[in-house]
Amino acid sequence: MTEPNGQNVQKLADYRPYPFVLTATRLHFALNPAATEVRAALSFSPRDADMPQDLVLDGGRGVELLSLTLDGEVPDPAHVIRRNETLTLSAAALPPHPFLLETTVRIDPSANTACEGLYISNGMFCTQCEAEGFRHITFYPDRPDVMATFHVTIDSDLPVLLSNGNPVGQSQGRAEWHDPWPKPSYLFALVAGELAAVSDSFTTRSGRRVALNVWVRPRDQDRAGFAMESLIKSMKWDEDVYGREYDLDVFNIVAVDDFNMGAMENKGLNIFNSKLVLASPDTATDGDYERIEAVIAHEYFHNWTGNRITCRDWFQLCLKEGLTVFRDQQFTSDMRSAAVKRIEDVQALRSRQFREDQGPLAHPPRPDRYEEINNFYTATVYEKGAEVIGMLKRLVGDDGYRRALDLYFDRHDGDAATIEDWLKVFEDATGRDLTQFKRWYTDAGTPRLTMAEDWQPGVAGGRLSLTFKQETPPTPGQPEKLPRVIPIAVGLIGPNGDEVAPTQVLEMTEASQSFIVEGLGARPVVSALRGFSAPVVLTRPMDDQTRAFLLAHDTDPFSRWEAGRDLALSALTAAAQGLAPGGDHVAAIGRLIADDAADPAFRALCLTLPGEEEIATRLFSEGKVPDPEAIHAAREAMALRMAETHQDLLSRLYDGMAVSGPYRPDAADAARRSLRNAVLALLTRIDGGERAEILFGIAGNMTERMAALIALLRRGRGQAELAALHDLFDGNRLVMDKWFAVQPMAALPAQAAPIARTLSQRADFDWKNPNRFRALLGGLAANHAGFHAADGSGYDFTAEWLLRMDPFNPQIAARMSAVFETWTRYDAGRRAKALAALERIAAADGLSRNTREMVSRMIA
Ligand code: PHE
Ligand code: ZN
Repeated sequence: MTEPNGQNVQKLADYRPYPFVLTATRLHFALNPAATEVRAALSFSPRDADMPQDLVLDGGRGVELLSLTLDGEVPDPAHVIRRNETLTLSAAALPPHPFLLETTVRIDPSANTACEGLYISNGMFCTQCEAEGFRHITFYPDRPDVMATFHVTIDSDLPVLLSNGNPVGQSQGRAEWHDPWPKPSYLFALVAGELAAVSDSFTTRSGRRVALNVWVRPRDQDRAGFAMESLIKSMKWDEDVYGREYDLDVFNIVAVDDFNMGAMENKGLNIFNSKLVLASPDTATDGDYERIEAVIAHEYFHNWTGNRITCRDWFQLCLKEGLTVFRDQQFTSDMRSAAVKRIEDVQALRSRQFREDQGPLAHPPRPDRYEEINNFYTATVYEKGAEVIGMLKRLVGDDGYRRALDLYFDRHDGDAATIEDWLKVFEDATGRDLTQFKRWYTDAGTPRLTMAEDWQPGVAGGRLSLTFKQETPPTPGQPEKLPRVIPIAVGLIGPNGDEVAPTQVLEMTEASQSFIVEGLGARPVVSALRGFSAPVVLTRPMDDQTRAFLLAHDTDPFSRWEAGRDLALSALTAAAQGLAPGGDHVAAIGRLIADDAADPAFRALCLTLPGEEEIATRLFSEGKVPDPEAIHAAREAMALRMAETHQDLLSRLYDGMAVSGPYRPDAADAARRSLRNAVLALLTRIDGGERAEILFGIAGNMTERMAALIALLRRGRGQAELAALHDLFDGNRLVMDKWFAVQPMAALPAQAAPIARTLSQRADFDWKNPNRFRALLGGLAANHAGFHAADGSGYDFTAEWLLRMDPFNPQIAARMSAVFETWTRYDAGRRAKALAALERIAAADGLSRNTREMVSRMIA
C-alpha cells in the first residue's frame, strides 16, 4: 500500500491470510563470517487449489539468490520475480497440490551492523528475527501467522552450535535441532560461538526433566548464576500461578554484547543483551538484579504468551507484550514487595507512557497503521498494554481472570490470535460485554478524570456523592474520543484516620457519573484510584492538608505514596513558576521516613523527589510551558531544604540502614540500601561530599558505589571517583556503559552536553555497540535541563549522533530519536532549536524508513 507521499503504510484493515500453508521448514546453514550459505526447503500447500495465487516471499536486499527449485525442478525464470524486498513465484508456475520449494542463498553476517537477521557479535554468530529480521536470512513468508515446524542443521567449526527446539544430532562440525512446535519465523534463532554454560535442570510438575543452560563467554561464567536462579523461579511460578508447563527437553539462554533490545523469546533459545544476564555484586546494582530477574521471567513467560499463542499480525503486538509484561509484573510482586513494585511500575508508566501519550508519537496499544513496526515496541504497547489487562482483571475479579486465561490457553493454543480473540475469551468466561472496554485497545491518549465531592451531613445519616467526569485529549489521527470503562478503586477514611469503607471498585462508563455513599456520620476523606486502578490522570480539588492526612493514614500503599507525591509536585510546580509553595511537603515526608515500622524501600520511594521530567509533564498537563532551568532550581532548592530540615533524622537513618554481612541482592537488603542511598543523595548536599567519598572507597558492591558516585557528580564533584571506577573496570563493558551514562546524566545542566561531546570523542566510545550508544545519548536525555539546554547544544549533539548511527543501525537511531518527542511542550526558543535539529535529520540523504517515520511523526 503506497500513500501519495510515497511512504509505505501498513494497515490493519488490509489484513489477508497468507494464501499458502507452510507445514515444515528445513534449514541448512554453512556458517562463514563473510559468506554464509543458507539452504531452505519449504513444504507449502495452496490454501485453495481452485484459486491459484502468486507465492510471495519476503527477502531483504542483502540476500543473494544462488539457486531455486520447485519439487526439484528449476522453474521458468520468467515466473521468478525478484524485487527489492520480495521474491515472487507466479501462480502459473505453481502446482495445485503440496509442493517443495528449495532455495540456496548467500548472506554476509560480517557486514551486518544492524543487529537484525544473522550477525556477528564479538566473534559469535547470533540472530535477531523479531519483528522482520528473518527475511534478511532467507526468502520466506516472514509474517507471524505463517507457522511451521523447523528442522535446522548448522555446519561450523565453532564449538557451540544452537538453534530452537531439541538437539537431535551433534557431531564434529555439525549440529542438528528440531523444533516440534509450529512457530513463525520471528521466533527462529541460531547461535554459534565459543561459549561456556552455567547448567542446571528443572523437573516440571508432570515430571519431565528439562536441561537448562545459560551460555556466556568463558570468563563470564561466574556472573551467570543469578540468571539461572531467576529462570528456575520463573518456571516454577508459571506452573503455580498460571498452570503453564515448559514443553521442550532443553531451555537455552545466550548472552550477547551487541543487541538492539533487552532480550528475545525465541522458542527454547532466548537471546539476551548481556546486561540482562551478567551480574556480580561488584559490577551490577540492585536495580540491575531486579531487572534481570524480571526480564528472564518475561522472556520465559513468552513461551506460552507469545510462542504457543502468537500474534496474527504485528498490529496485535500488545496481545503478547502487554500480557507478558503483566505476568512479569505479577511475578516480581510475588518475589519482592508488591507495594513497591506497583509504585515503581506506575512511576515508569507515567514517565514513559504518559509522556508518549501527550506528544506527537501517541498511538493506541493496538495501532491500526504503521510504516516500520520496529518503531512500535513502545511504552504504550508494553506498559499500557499491561495496565489494560490489570483493569480487565479488576473488572472481572481474580476468579473471572483465571477462568478467562484458562479458556485462552485452551482455545488458542497453536493459534496466531488477535485482540478480538483475547477479549472474546473474557466475554465467554465471564458473560461480560467488553465492547466499550475495547476502546482501551483502539484509542490513544490518557483520559483525564476529575472528581468532585458533595457532602450532605443532614441527608441519609451523612451522604457523600462523588461525581467523576472523563475526557481524553485529542491525539494524532484521533480528534474525538468516546468515554471509556474506568475502574475506580475508592476507599474512605474517617477523620480520626481509621478506614470507614474498604476499597470498592466503582465502574465508570459514562462521560460523567455520580456514585453515592450514605450513613457515613462524619465526613470522610476519599482515597481515590487506589493501587492506580486505571491509567488515567486524576484531578481533584484537594488541599495540602488533606494530602498530608492521606500520606499519614491511607491504608493503600500506592495512594499513600501518591499523596506524598502530589504534595511534592504541588510545591515543586509552584516553585518552578516562581510562586510560593503552599503546604509543607518537607515536614510531612519527615514524619513518614521517621516511621521505622514501614518498609525501607517504601520510605525511599517517598523520600525521592519527583524527577525534573515528571515536574515538566505535570506542568504541561496543567497547560503551562515548563521551564527546564526553573524546574531544576526548584527541585534543587527543595532537596536542600529537606536535607537541612531533617539533617539529624537523615544522619541517623544513614547509619542505621547500613547492611552488614556479604552482599545479597534480595528485596530486604536492597530495600535498606535504597533508603540509605536516597538519604545519601540528600546529605551529600550539606556534608561537603564526605559520606559519599567514604562510601565509594569502602563499598563492596556496585549499588553503593554508583549511588555515591552519582551523589558526588550531581554536586559537581566526583572526578577522582570516576577515574578510580575507570581504572578498576576498564575491561568490563557493562560497567563502562554505566561510566559513560552517569556522567552526562548527573552533570550540572550546563555541563551535560559538553561532557557528552567530550566522551563521544574517546577511543573507547565504541558507538556501534547499541549499549554504549544508548548509555551516552540516553544519559544526556535523562538530564532534563541538560538535554533541553536553552542554547540547543543537547539537541544538536543528539541529532548529530542519530544521523551518524542511522546508516549502521536504523532501529537504534529511530528508537533513540524519541528523546525529542516532548519538544513541542517548551518555549518558542527551544522549539525552534529542536525543530531545526529534527529537520536536519529529516533532510538527510538515504535516511532509513525507521528514522524517517519517527521524525516525520514528530514534525507533523
Ligand atoms: N519480544 C521481545 C520482548 O519483549 C522484544 C524484542 C523485540 C526483542 C524486537 C528484539 C527485537 O521480550
Ligand atoms: Zn516481550
